Amino acid sequence: MQAEATRETETEDFLPLKGMDHVEFYVGNAKQSAEFYRSVLGFALRGYRGPETGCRGSASYLLEQGKIRVLLTSAIKSDNFIAHHVAKHGDGVRVLALEVDDAAAALEATRQRGAEVVSEVEELKDEHGVVRVASIKTYGDTIHTFVERGAYKGHFMPGFEERDKQPPNGDVGLKGIDHVVGNVELGKMNHWVNFYAKTLGFSQLLHFDDEAISTDYTALMSKVMQNGTGKIKFPINEPAESKKKSQIEEYLDFYDGPGVQHLALITGDIISTVDKLRENGLEFLSIPHTYYEDLTERVGVIKEKIEDLQRLGILVDRDDEGYLLQIFTRPIQDRPTVFFEVIQRRGSRGFGLGNFKALFEAIEREQARRGNL
Ligand code: FE2
Repeated sequence: MQAEATRETETEDFLPLKGMDHVEFYVGNAKQSAEFYRSVLGFALRGYRGPETGCRGSASYLLEQGKIRVLLTSAIKSDNFIAHHVAKHGDGVRVLALEVDDAAAALEATRQRGAEVVSEVEELKDEHGVVRVASIKTYGDTIHTFVERGAYKGHFMPGFEERDKQPPNGDVGLKGIDHVVGNVELGKMNHWVNFYAKTLGFSQLLHFDDEAISTDYTALMSKVMQNGTGKIKFPINEPAESKKKSQIEEYLDFYDGPGVQHLALITGDIISTVDKLRENGLEFLSIPHTYYEDLTERVGVIKEKIEDLQRLGILVDRDDEGYLLQIFTRPIQDRPTVFFEVIQRRGSRGFGLGNFKALFEAIEREQARRGNL
């Protein structure tokens, strides 16, 4: 019985993912972006790859905090895919890398199930061992790279020079990536939901329709896909019919196509994390004072002081499993595209449905200021 059950599980999870390996952004000026991640977001600079290390066309900076690894990459000449990506999308996410035990097996399993392959298995070697990588397409110009690092003893990957430049004000307590949200075109959400289900073996955790997520002006639909272990969560949004331009449409316009909308970073103490981030100068969406007036009625007793939440602009939502605290940054580049969420979970595995209305109204105020509503 036991063996049978195990075999069945193995058949079901044909793509065992160990977790998010790293997220790579293509940016206009990685050297300066890396300093923003250090001094404002509290990341440490831990690696570098560029012309000095034998990489001719681009420069990459590896930033780390907790288990989060962010790679910032810029082209150093104009006739280069990275330069074209940045010209079209502005700064944005190119790679959502997934750690696996066997990159070749992951590539074959997904190829058989319809994945479009971007690059075949490549072996990267140095004196510390070998890392195998292979990539498939997902929405827009975004790709998933399977990273097999079991036989590597070095810090990150061959080709990178190790660095150790700590954040000037210390880290801010960010621990890992909770979820990564993608925005896709109207009518395309189910296509990508099916892609994650069929090609990567994910299942649907939640579904929010436009009734649940709408204000007077904006509306969207969202489905949350997660892998077999529940470690990786990818919500997919599409715009819904609304009176004015929805925030998803604004994103699609300015990103010039589908892409990653936000990365949610988890903390064990959101008050301390947001305190430090604000101190470092990070800008968040502002929440009206009225949000806090009936907060206790809506979410019941919570451990945090309402004054602290109000002072920092942190939102709270409760469901049957517990509650969560969350806050959203303003876009982190001039285009109104990618932003971050900081989240702390106290039992809830949700995404803050009860906050969507307050949040969207905050986003609309900013859209109106940009003349895009
Ligand atoms: Fe989120």
